[in-house]
Parts: sequence; structure tokens; C-alpha cells
Amino acid sequence: MELLPDKSSLRDWIASHRHLPRVLVPTMGALHRGHTSLFDRAREEASRLGGEVVATIFVNPTQFGPNEDFTAYPRPLEADLAKCREHGVDAVFAPGVGDMYADDRSITIAENRLSTTLCGASRPGHFDGVCTVVAKLFLLTQPGAAIFGEKDFQQLAVIRRLVRDLDFPVDIIGAPTVREEDGLALSSRNVYLTPGQRAQAQVLQRSLAKTARGIAEGRLETPSAAKEAFLGEFAAATLARLDYFEMVDAWTLQRLDEFGDSEPRLLAAAFFGKTRLIDNVGLS
Ligand code: PAJ
Repeated sequence: MELLPDKSSLRDWIASHRHLPRVLVPTMGALHRGHTSLFDRAREEASRLGGEVVATIFVNPTQFGPNEDFTAYPRPLEADLAKCREHGVDAVFAPGVGDMYADDRSITIAENRLSTTLCGASRPGHFDGVCTVVAKLFLLTQPGAAIFGEKDFQQLAVIRRLVRDLDFPVDIIGAPTVREEDGLALSSRNVYLTPGQRAQAQVLQRSLAKTARGIAEGRLETPSAAKEAFLGEFAAATLARLDYFEMVDAWTLQRLDEFGDSEPRLLAAAFFGKTRLIDNVGLS
């Protein structure tokens, strides 16, 4: 496996592997089984295409708000590289901030529809930072396909829109959420939870799953009945403060007033102390 610590080493590597298709997995490091499942999916896809897997590890400052955890975000590079190696990654691009962003940079990619609700509402500028860095990573690594987790469902929808609207020649592949045994979605931020908060954190997934089942089985016929059911279940997490619960169309992220023909997706975010957790489920 090759470690590419800057743009120039990435360019050289690409120049010497130009004929091989690439499958990209962008990450911010602090890798867990959720990330490594994306590497495994990328490996499958790369083998099918006769290509290579490129992972990126870059804690992107432009997607963190001023009061968020950019500085405290964990950066265990050696352990991350070992996991990349174990999961068949061919090259890891891990640039420094100064290499990625000029001090006087003045261009940002803004997504103006899908980003305004859900997590975008409480994290202004977050998805512009994500779109900008992902566009840069696509241009730098020139992949044929890129894998993103459904765990960050709004991010996945925004990136599909980025690729559609700016004509990036990249297939976006969504991969299922990897969970702890009790259902809690794996996240680098789970380490911030106290034992008491950790014990209650699975209520988020449990409430989403139970509500989705009620809709799928026809017991919860309207979005308002579903919301009431979700809130009833979620009340068991006494240490949590709900940020949002929404039922949206899986592709446009527009809120549903009725279930009708659309493909509903249930998304929620909750604070446990200062730690904000997100999760989502589909109906099947
Ligand atoms: P990061 O939070 O490191 O996540 C990298 C990828 O791993 C994302 O596609 C995310 O959805 C996926 N992922 C995280 N937890 C997962 C889980 N439990 N199961 C499956 N996949 C999971 O998302 C980002 O980084 C950044 O915003 C990035 C896209 C790299 C741009 O900076």
C-alpha cells in the first residue's frame, strides 16, 4: 500500500497507474468498522473493474462550524493506515490542510436545496464544505466510482446532487450502515459518550426502526401518526435532546405530507450532552 502525503505524490502515483480505474473512499480518518466496510465494498467494485482502491484521510476544516470539534477530532494516522492495509486499500491520500487549501482561497461549491434542512439547518455551511472538499478529491483522484455510507444519508443525497449537477464522471455507490450489537450506528463521535449516555444511545435506532416497521406494516398511516409513535419511543432516552425527526423522500429529501408513492426515509438527530448523533432508516 502506498501512502501519498501530498498532492504532488498523488499526481505522480496517478501518472504511473493511469490505465487503471479507481474506486475512491473519502474519510476523515479515526477509522472504524463502518469505514472498513466501505473499503471492502470498494475492493469488490475495484476487482470487478480490474482497478484499484484509493482511500483519503483528511479532516476537512471547511465542513466544521466554529464551535464544532475540528481541533479535537481524533487523528490516529498509524492505526488508520494499518486498517487501510488490512482491507485491501492500494493507496491512501492523506494531505495536510495547507496542501489542500490556499490561505486566500475564494471558491466554494454551494448546494442550495437539499442542504437547507435536517443537519444543514443546525450546521450552516457544513454541506458547502463537504461539497467543496469532495469535488476537490474527485478532481485530484479522478475515480470512476466513489463509495459513501448511508449512515450520513443527507451527505449521500447531497453528493449525488453534486455529481449530477456538475457532471462529475463518478458513479456514487451508497453502502449500508454498520452498527454496534445493540443497534447504535458506528461513529467516530461515539467515544465522547459517557457510559450512561452510551447505554441510552441505541434508543435513536430502536425508535427509528420501530416507526419504520409501523409504517411498512400499515399501522402508522400518516406522517403525523408516525411522528407521534417515534416521539413516544424516543422518550425512553431521558438523557437525550431530540434535534429533529423527519420523514422525507429518499432522493429529494423533501418532507413528506403523505406516504403515497415516494420512497420514505426516516432521519433523526439527537444530542447526548454535547455529542450529536444521527441515524436513519428506510422502510424495507
Ligand atoms: P467520515 O465521517 O470519516 O465518514 C467517511 C465515510 O464513512 C462516509 O461516507 C460515511 O457515511 C461513512 N460511515 C461513517 N460511519 C459509518 C457506518 N457506521 N456505517 C457505514 N458507513 C459509515 O463523511 C465524512 O467523513 C466526510 O464528510 C467526507 C465525505 C470524508 C468529506 O470530508
